[in-house]
Amino acid sequence: MIIGVPKEIMHDENRVAATPEVCARYIALGHTVLVEHDAGEGSFFHDEQYQAAGAEMVQSAKDIYDRADLILKVKEPLFNEELAIHEVDLMHPGQTLITFIHPAAPANHQMVKNLAARGVTALTLDGVPRISRAQAMDALTGMSTCAGYKGTLMGVNLLPRFVPQIFSAIGMIKPINALVIGVGVGGSQALATVKRLGARVFAADIRPAAREQAQSLGAKIIELNVPDEAAVGEGGYAKSLSPELLRAEREALAAQLPEMDFIFLSALVPGKLAPVLITEEMVKTMKPGAVIVDISIDQGGNCELTPPGEISLTHNVHLVGIKNIPGLLPESSTSMFALNMFNLVNYLVKDNQFNLDPQDEIVQGILTTKDREVVHQGAREAMGL
Ligand code: NAI
Repeated sequence: MIIGVPKEIMHDENRVAATPEVCARYIALGHTVLVEHDAGEGSFFHDEQYQAAGAEMVQSAKDIYDRADLILKVKEPLFNEELAIHEVDLMHPGQTLITFIHPAAPANHQMVKNLAARGVTALTLDGVPRISRAQAMDALTGMSTCAGYKGTLMGVNLLPRFVPQIFSAIGMIKPINALVIGVGVGGSQALATVKRLGARVFAADIRPAAREQAQSLGAKIIELNVPDEAAVGEGGYAKSLSPELLRAEREALAAQLPEMDFIFLSALVPGKLAPVLITEEMVKTMKPGAVIVDISIDQGGNCELTPPGEISLTHNVHLVGIKNIPGLLPESSTSMFALNMFNLVNYLVKDNQFNLDPQDEIVQGILTTKDREVVHQGAREAMGL
């Protein structure tokens, strides 16, 4: 199979879908790998390394799209300013695309319909189910790990005070209090990172399994007064709370906020808008100089003041709403992403053919367009099909 790896074209996107090491693995399996010139520069992987791994460097994205059977990307297809053509229009019938598509998001509906019309088989990485056998293929988990770690470092860097306890000639300086709300993949990594920096750590989550995990990482649990039956749904995922329970949760959190120096927000119910857990009134009660990092911003944000894609200083509190945090840790995020992608390709391709078994839970989750139809369930519902 001919695998094509174009350079990412989203503004400020430093990641790339394959590392030289992973290219060597595809080639060892008998595939040909085409990599666009300079595709790995942003992640510090150079053309010579790809060449040494056996990949063929290709000067233009158009050649890659023309020749490849399978296109691997990090971000959804976008308009290519340099070539003055949309990436979807560079693709051809029978070609397969694997990337993060977020097909249910309204902003992507037309692009997804265009992929279908073009006869492309598109597979979306955000649909990989969180089941044990799919863990090694789950790029979202790896990216949330990056966001938890790097988001914490970015946030504490804005603090006007020391994080750990400091003994000095003028006496002891107390460590900061850090609270993580939503202790899933991203939140757990944030908790571990800020704890390693020396903070006193607190955590809140509506799922008992997440609270146990937080406790094992050394956090003191904030009681949210949400009954487990109202919080946990099918497959162990969190459920959306009723307006009354959300209000009760906000009250429980409001009592703790004035004590906190650093808050990391990553509360999410899959496929839903993020619950608003911190209001403007609550921000006003916080310590001057406190920091809130809100990584749920793509789904609207857990704090109603978080600026999408930016950092603001509001009511003396820094609010971080940066959307592409994994892209700020490009070498690690690319390495993790490339391996997840390799494991997924290896799982789907048998004897040089895609084996898309419609009964397979993983295939059901990721298959987005096939045979000129949009087949992704969430996308179809969101499009009213
Ligand atoms: P996850 O599903 O592993 O964790 C979400 C956690 O929130 C779960 O433990 C759930 O129980 C908890 N939760 C749900 N409702 C809650 C509520 N009302 N109160 C308290 N806890 C609640 O999700 P993951 O992978 O950690 O992702 C978290 C967020 O980070 C997502 O919104 C994701 O899109 C985003 N993300 C952002 C990035 C960025 O660059 N900004 C990069 C990667 C992920």
